[in-house]
Amino acid sequence: MIRSFFRPPEIPAPVERTPVVLLGGHPGSHDARALAAGLPPWREVMGALASGADGVRLPVTRDTFWDLHRIAATAAYLVGAGRKAPALPPFVPNPLPDAPAALEGWLGELRGALEGFAVQIDAPSDELMALLATVAGAADPLNRGILLRLLGALTGGVFRGPATVHVDVANACNVNCIYCWFHSPLSADREDAAEFDTAWRSEMLDWATFEKLIDDLDGLDAREDVLLSGKGEPLLHPQCLDMVRAVKARDLGCTLFSNGVLVREEARRAVVEAGLDLLYVSLSSASPEVYEAIHPDHDGVAELEEVRANVRALTQLKANRGTPTPRVMMVDVVNSLNAHEVLDFYEQARDLGAEHVRYQLQHVQPYNAQLRIRPDQVEQLRLDIAEAHRREAEGGPSIVPNIDWQLATLEVSSGVWGHGRTPDEGCYVGWTFSRTWTNGDVSFCCSPKVVDSLHERSFSEIWQGERYAKFRNAARDLATHGDMTFSNGAKLLGDHCVGCPNYEGIGKLAEDLRRYGLEQFVRGRDRQRLRDASPDS
Ligand SMILES: C[S@@+](CC[C@H](N)C(=O)[O-])C[C@H]1O[C@@H](n2cnc3c(N)ncnc32)[C@H](O)[C@@H]1O
Ligand code: SF4
Repeated sequence: MIRSFFRPPEIPAPVERTPVVLLGGHPGSHDARALAAGLPPWREVMGALASGADGVRLPVTRDTFWDLHRIAATAAYLVGAGRKAPALPPFVPNPLPDAPAALEGWLGELRGALEGFAVQIDAPSDELMALLATVAGAADPLNRGILLRLLGALTGGVFRGPATVHVDVANACNVNCIYCWFHSPLSADREDAAEFDTAWRSEMLDWATFEKLIDDLDGLDAREDVLLSGKGEPLLHPQCLDMVRAVKARDLGCTLFSNGVLVREEARRAVVEAGLDLLYVSLSSASPEVYEAIHPDHDGVAELEEVRANVRALTQLKANRGTPTPRVMMVDVVNSLNAHEVLDFYEQARDLGAEHVRYQLQHVQPYNAQLRIRPDQVEQLRLDIAEAHRREAEGGPSIVPNIDWQLATLEVSSGVWGHGRTPDEGCYVGWTFSRTWTNGDVSFCCSPKVVDSLHERSFSEIWQGERYAKFRNAARDLATHGDMTFSNGAKLLGDHCVGCPNYEGIGKLAEDLRRYGLEQFVRGRDRQRLRDASPDS
């Protein structure tokens, strides 16, 4: 009996002290991934840590590995009880053919740096290792840039700078192309015309900002193309030729856009000697009458002849020096005033010694809609472009294939092209392209979508930073995130996205995924979107 009064003291059952799982370095990135993985949100993770959870566990998956240094730094801070979190480097998949081993090595480095912190880094997931092995297996000395950008697009990370950086050098222009977004006499009717005032016209990119930018591009291995252009004529910038020299001195690819008027002797010598790769000459006419119609109040005979003479002299100079560069791309912005001349334009390009022709259907905006291709011109235009391709096949200047896609998507009644394909669905421009304005703003794409400013942060910091990552990843699903806004109030999915000039890059990305056996890693909606973006579909 006595024994029944004896009760052993109540011992609470041992509390299961498991580490919490952290998937992002801040609430936004953690919650997005946790929601997809069915794991507790940031709020609950913080609650568990406050009530004594046993440290933090970090899964290493294709969604987290590129960000793991930041997640680990946050984890160390959270469990560090006031101790300073160590500085952790990002993953660099270098050399690419050894990417899986490089990952293991880096994870070892992180684990070493976090010794003494209650942070546990998991083994990498099988899916991540398979992805890295496929990328590594496809690597050769020429495709490193492409593969690193594909790896970024498949994982959400960024492992290399953009393939093309469009650098706006000057806003002013010495001509007034009637279709031009900024300098057409018609553009006075733009809703935002007041923004393009005298102060804006005199704005030029300053040298210090430019030099820092190209140093950063060099550091980010963004070697393919620094494109010097602008909302005006870049050769009006007094240091434009020094810019070409500076880009080439760093062994980066360089393209220069010009209307051709200022491609005079000094400029020709400078671009040949510096090794400029490609010169675009936007002429859009092949006769004095059309030149005058395209450039109201300009002397069609003298100015057209001046541009022709400049290009001819450049061809001659290249021949004299025995160099193929800069290759010349004659640009024809096709509209109702010059559509009848596309074959003459082709022959003119051949006659001037140009290597390439780019026909570009005019972007139709409310202010220039009166210049759109008329329905009665479309059939002949299609026949003439087909004939130009025939001449190309016989050895004439090469034609950039963009025109075929533009004509294929042309809505005859409105003259608008590009509907019904990317990027309404999804956009991958965040891995391949970036644009900087004369005022130092960094824009997500050609239309004004301001991510940050070069006067606030370096291009490297901006490109690798969380803000860019947020837009880059959101743009993959424009249908869901199209309303996201940039710092200038522009929406991620805006009117400019119709007839987007970057659709060519997006289509190429889809093609490359297939070429390198990476399509198997494309998930869910992305899979269909990339298929739609493929040039073959
Ligand atoms: C704005 S310009 C600046 C560089 C230089 N002034 C030039 O004309 O090449 C850049 C490119 O945009 C093209 N462009 C201008 N307005 C256009 C429009 N409405 N539609 C299509 N292309 C246009 C020009 O022909 C040129 O190739
Ligand atoms: S030359 Fe270029 S910037 Fe100048 S008006 Fe023409 S398209 Fe616009």
